[in-house]
Amino acid sequence: MVKAAVLGASGGIGQPLSLLLAISPLVDELSLYDVVNTPGVGADLSHINSKAKVTAYLPEEGKGLEKALTGTDIVVIPAGIPRKPGMTRDDLFKINAGIVRDLVTGVAKYSPKAFVLIISNPVNSTVPIAAEVLKKHEVFDATKLFGVTSLDVVRASTFVADVVGGSPTDYKVPVVGGHSGETIVPLLSQITPKTEIPSDKLEALVKRIQFGGDEVVKAKDGTGSATLSMAYAGFKFAESLLRAVKGETGIVEPTYVYLDGVAGGKEVKEAVGGLDFFAVPVELGPTGAVRATNPLPQANEYEKTLLEEAKKGLAGNIVKGTEFITPTSK
Ligand SMILES: NC(=O)c1ccc[n+]([C@@H]2O[C@H](COP(=O)([O-])OP(=O)(O)OC[C@H]3O[C@@H](n4cnc5c(N)ncnc54)[C@H](O)[C@@H]3O)[C@@H](O)[C@H]2O)c1
Repeated sequence: MVKAAVLGASGGIGQPLSLLLAISPLVDELSLYDVVNTPGVGADLSHINSKAKVTAYLPEEGKGLEKALTGTDIVVIPAGIPRKPGMTRDDLFKINAGIVRDLVTGVAKYSPKAFVLIISNPVNSTVPIAAEVLKKHEVFDATKLFGVTSLDVVRASTFVADVVGGSPTDYKVPVVGGHSGETIVPLLSQITPKTEIPSDKLEALVKRIQFGGDEVVKAKDGTGSATLSMAYAGFKFAESLLRAVKGETGIVEPTYVYLDGVAGGKEVKEAVGGLDFFAVPVELGPTGAVRATNPLPQANEYEKTLLEEAKKGLAGNIVKGTEFITPTSK
C-alpha cells in the first residue's frame, strides 16, 4: 500500500500534480494538505473512479498536517509562492524558506521515513533547508530527500527536438547542477541517443534550457510560473521512484541530492569542488537513491565552463539554505 501526500495541494502545481497522483495505479491513498481550499480539491478528486482514496486537510491548528502526513510513504512539496516577471527564484527565499522549514518539520515528526520530494523554489536552497531540519530531528536520510529538477530534463528534451527535429521523447538529456538559471547545466554532449547539436545553435539552446522557466513566467504575465509542465515533471519523478520502490530496476533520473549521503556522491562532490548538494543522474531503488552517477569527467570544454559558473552560484545558494536553519557563529 502506498500513501502519497501533497503539501501545497491547492496551488497551480499542487492541483494537477494531485490529479496525476490520484489516477496513478501506483498510489493507494492520496492525502492533500494546504492552508486553503483542500476540502474542495479533495471532494473533486474523490469522485474519480481510480483506486486511490483521497483525503484532504487544512491546518486545523497543527492537527491537519499531522493527519495528512501520518503513515505517508512519499511526500511531494510544491507549497509556496511562485515567481512574477522580473523575479529570480532566489527572490522567493524570504517566504518559501519558512514554509519549507515548517512543512519538513512536520515530515520529521509525523512521517520521518517518507521519501521527500521538494519542488518549492529556490530548490537550490530549500533542499539544504529540508536536510538541516531533518538532521536537527535526527531523521535525515540523504537517500530519501530529492530536489525535483525534472522540469529542466523535460524542457531539455523538448528544446533539443525543436532544434534537431524528431519527437521530444526521442531524446534523453542529462541535466546537472542546480535548478536556477546558470546553475542548470545540460550536458548536450551526452544526449542519448548520440545527437549532434549544430555549433551555431548550441549556446542559444543551452540558454533556453537554463532560462526556460522565464518564458512561462513572461507569458503568464504576473499570474505565476510553470504549473502544468511542472506537475507533469514532478509526477514523472514520483512515478519513477514508486516504480523503483516496487522493484523495477535500471531507473535513473537526474535529481538534486546531498552528495555525502548517497553512494557514488563523494566522487561527484570531489568533481564539483566540495559542494554538498548537486543534481546528477541518480539510480533509484527500493530504498530511494541507490547510486549517484558522475557524468562530469566526460563533459567537454564548453560544458566545463558552464559547470564552473554553476558551482559559483550553487555554493552561495547552499550556504544560504543551510544557514537559515543552522547559523554558523561569525
Ligand atoms: N522545482 C521546479 O522545477 C519548479 C517549477 C515551477 C515552480 N516551482 C515552485 O513551486 C512552488 C509552487 O508554485 P505554484 O505555481 O503551485 O504556486 P501557487 O501559489 O499556485 O501554489 C502554492 C500553494 O502553496 C500553498 N501554501 C502556501 N503556504 C503553505 C503552507 N505553509 N502549507 C501548505 N501550503 C501552503 C498555497 O496556499 C498555494 O495553494 C513555487 O515556489 C514555485 O517557484 C518549482
